Amino acid sequence: MTFDLKWREATKKDTVYMRSFKCTSAAATARGTVGVEHQVQAFFRHFAIAETNRAKDQGLDGRLMIAEDEQGIAAAYAHRLLAPEEYSAELDVPADSPLRDLCFLAVAERYRARSGALFGSAGTAGAMADEAINEALWDIRERAPGAPRVYVTGLVDYRNTASMRMLARNHFVEISRGCPPPTGDNRLGRWMRVLR
Ligand SMILES: CC(C)(COP(=O)(O)OP(=O)(O)OC[C@H]1O[C@@H](n2cnc3c(N)ncnc32)[C@H](O)[C@@H]1OP(=O)(O)O)[C@@H](O)C(=O)NCCC(=O)NCCS
Repeated sequence: MTFDLKWREATKKDTVYMRSFKCTSAAATARGTVGVEHQVQAFFRHFAIAETNRAKDQGLDGRLMIAEDEQGIAAAYAHRLLAPEEYSAELDVPADSPLRDLCFLAVAERYRARSGALFGSAGTAGAMADEAINEALWDIRERAPGAPRVYVTGLVDYRNTASMRMLARNHFVEISRGCPPPTGDNRLGRWMRVLR
């Protein structure tokens, strides 16, 4: 399934527009993911532009990308380079291969499927999520064309089952759960995929 969406980089001019992005609802309360999903939504609404710009200022090539349909923001993702000192104690990544943090990714609520249901003619469950993550992986790979490999990582709360399913079906592997200091959050698993 391919959606006819245009992806573009969000900039400071989108600060107010980003506040309209809705990727979760009260339905998450029942599933126990309310805090987690609202944090993601809050990131995109309030912090993503500033954090991306901060990463750029630090030479870490922050990217905040959004896709739009006729109703507004349909999906969004953010990624940035990790500096070696941020991961060398925890992860064994070859010096010639960059490591990217896929910080956050979300699809608009209208593209999410209730309890595994299909949502009609717009596509099948998970289709928009798969499109977004594949866009993110293309974007990440294109940022380092000369590198033999690019490592992509992300931290995911173990209660966020939709997110873990999306990563698993897109060939990410959970390499550890319960991050060591300074992150030190037992609820987070580290996921990884290597792009060639
Ligand atoms: C991660 C994500 C992109 C995966 O999308 P996906 O593969 O299409 O999967 P879905 O979101 O359709 O997953 C279906 C689940 O979402 C639930 N769901 C559907 N609509 C929902 C809504 N409006 N609010 C909350 N939950 C909803 C379904 O009940 C189902 O739950 P179940 O797995 O317990 O049965 C998507 O879940 C999302 O955008 N989540 C919010 C942001 C987020 O948490 N991102 C990941 C961390 S950065």
